[in-house]
Amino acid sequence: MTDKMGAEVVETGAAAPPWAHEMLAEVVTAPDFSRREFALRELMDEPCTFEQYRAAALSLGRLNRWTRGYKGTLEFLGRVLERTGVGHEPLHVVDVGCGHGDGLREIYRWAAKRSVPLRLTGVDVNPYAARLARECDRVEHVSAGTIAWVTGDVFAAELEPPADVVVSSLFAHHLCDEAIVKLLQWKEDRARVGWFVSDLRRSERAAKVFAWMGRVLPMEEMVARDGVVSFRRALSVGEWERLGLEVGAEVKDLGMGRVGVERLRR
Ligand SMILES: C[S@@+](CC[C@H](N)C(=O)[O-])C[C@H]1O[C@@H](n2cnc3c(N)ncnc32)[C@H](O)[C@@H]1O
Repeated sequence: MTDKMGAEVVETGAAAPPWAHEMLAEVVTAPDFSRREFALRELMDEPCTFEQYRAAALSLGRLNRWTRGYKGTLEFLGRVLERTGVGHEPLHVVDVGCGHGDGLREIYRWAAKRSVPLRLTGVDVNPYAARLARECDRVEHVSAGTIAWVTGDVFAAELEPPADVVVSSLFAHHLCDEAIVKLLQWKEDRARVGWFVSDLRRSERAAKVFAWMGRVLPMEEMVARDGVVSFRRALSVGEWERLGLEVGAEVKDLGMGRVGVERLRR
């Protein structure tokens, strides 16, 4: 599929509903945080060109860095290593909904500093994600093949070798309630040692702080807009706690508008 200028466009999500940006602005300015607004759409899930995707993904990566978005995941991996010790066999860490892979490169550098052997795999349904991830590997001097980039739906992904640890960041709120439950069970069934979810938590205050950041920090419009919408599509801490109870997971406030859901096997 191509756009008006003839550039390649990938259909990344379900068919776009017929909403206009003005409609979106309206719901964003009259938000109701008492319930999840999953029906709101994020621009990043709509068809776009690789260049549009690239600009938005790199902007999100910078935002992750500024807000220390991967801190919770790295601390979780620290707890994993306390449990397993550092052996000769690499732990297989899988990041689902990995986007262009800034999280896995962060994990790669963290592990390299500590001489921890890891095997790293990123899974994302959007074919642009793996393409940009490979480009970023080259730019950031991560040798090709160090991280395996897989394009596909998480629920159809075959993990070989099996995963020791499964993580995700800013992914869960892209799924409907039933699919979030399925995701937790999917992680529970596949992660030999443990799993972690890092996501936004639905909070009016956090959304307001983010909206302010969108005005003062250099941020792609798609990221600024999607961020505000994401806070409304996300689960609240209470909702995560109820889900966590069902699978024996612990829920933590990670700060900066994020919640962590953690399961570490004894
Ligand atoms: C907001 S991005 C998060 C990217 C990155 N993890 C981060 O923290 O910045 C959400 C990602 O989930 C991916 N995604 C959505 N549904 C998916 C699915 N069913 N299977 C795999 N990836 C999916 C999207 O393509 C997108 O790259």
